[in-house]
Amino acid sequence: MANNLMDVVQFDQPGIPADVLSCVSQPIPHPGHGEVRVRMLAAPINPSDLMFIRGRYTLQAVCPAIPGFEGVGIVEQSGGDLRGRLFQGRRVVVLSRTGGTWAEHTVVPSSQVIPVSRHLSDEQAATFFVNPATAWVMTQEVLQVPEGQWLVQTAAGSALGRMIVRLGQRVGFRTLCVVRREESAEQLKALGADCVVVFNETTDDPEKLTQTLLQIVGESGVGYAVDAVGGSTGSAVIRSLGRGARMLAFGTLSGKPLQFSPRTLMTVGSTVEGFWLGNFLAGKGLLFRLGLVRRLTSLIQSGVLNSEIAGMWQPHQAATAVRAAEDSSVNGKCLLRFKEQ
Ligand SMILES: NC(=O)c1ccc[n+]([C@@H]2O[C@H](COP(=O)([O-])OP(=O)(O)OC[C@H]3O[C@@H](n4cnc5c(N)ncnc54)[C@H](OP(=O)(O)O)[C@@H]3O)[C@@H](O)[C@H]2O)c1
Repeated sequence: MANNLMDVVQFDQPGIPADVLSCVSQPIPHPGHGEVRVRMLAAPINPSDLMFIRGRYTLQAVCPAIPGFEGVGIVEQSGGDLRGRLFQGRRVVVLSRTGGTWAEHTVVPSSQVIPVSRHLSDEQAATFFVNPATAWVMTQEVLQVPEGQWLVQTAAGSALGRMIVRLGQRVGFRTLCVVRREESAEQLKALGADCVVVFNETTDDPEKLTQTLLQIVGESGVGYAVDAVGGSTGSAVIRSLGRGARMLAFGTLSGKPLQFSPRTLMTVGSTVEGFWLGNFLAGKGLLFRLGLVRRLTSLIQSGVLNSEIAGMWQPHQAATAVRAAEDSSVNGKCLLRFKEQ
């Protein structure tokens, strides 16, 4: 391949990821002022990427579009600002609000890269921020789940759900995990979840899920919950909330809306709030962010907020990689790996 060309994974129209993704050659982009060009090493396949490709994400793709909202790489060229020049040659975590990390090179504002500790592998650096930061911020900064209290979480078998289970063990809150498959229940128990309930939205009675949650936490109800599923699963959790309880809605994995009577919230004064990491961080200053990065680095190194990695695929294997990412029998994060140069 000529020196000024790179491999990118892109789609020409929204659709089923394995059908619409292809690997094509494109000219290597140049950074403008305030931007950096990063030579990517690895990037994860997250649910937000898959929704973006399907046209079901908040951000609509302008096609042809390159997916990928995070990853790790080396800053190769700076467009000229101080931050970019400082990071030249450094290995950084890339956070892109518009996608583009599923490429051998990507250009992002220099404010969207974070230098990453050399003690973290490329795999852990590629998954360094979005899930670990969400696990920490939701439970410790927003909900501030007190020691000994129950936190209900749905889609608990996800990479993020497993981080929350380990974080609960580390800081002392109890995890009540809702999963849709028995296999995930066994895995979460082995990981140290305090209690696991299996609920399959296509076959099980949501009212029974509410009752089961209440039996476990007691009649005063659930105090803290985080829901990534929505639909009948998230709605059943809402009906289990007790007086003054808080639930964060942070994902739409079922693709279905939450449905509940306003009375469910009115009578006990519970609240359901949307959570989006980007919005939360937009209100935080540099000191908070630096502290968060230090904390995440240490918690990933100590095995609390690390991601299990299922495997790595090259850009031309993107269709196989997204199939694996959507396959329930594949455990762990699937990553795209870009060639060393
Ligand atoms: N709001 C934010 O700022 C923010 C930040 C980070 C992540 N998130 C969200 O957090 C969630 C987890 O992300 P992740 O990267 O940890 O995911 P992941 O590791 O790719 O795992 C996805 C999980 O979702 C489960 N799932 C899929 N569809 C489901 C359904 N209809 N009902 C119940 N479970 C379902 C899967 O269960 P099986 O194992 O049974 O297939 C799997 O455990 C996603 O919704 C993501 O968008 C939100």
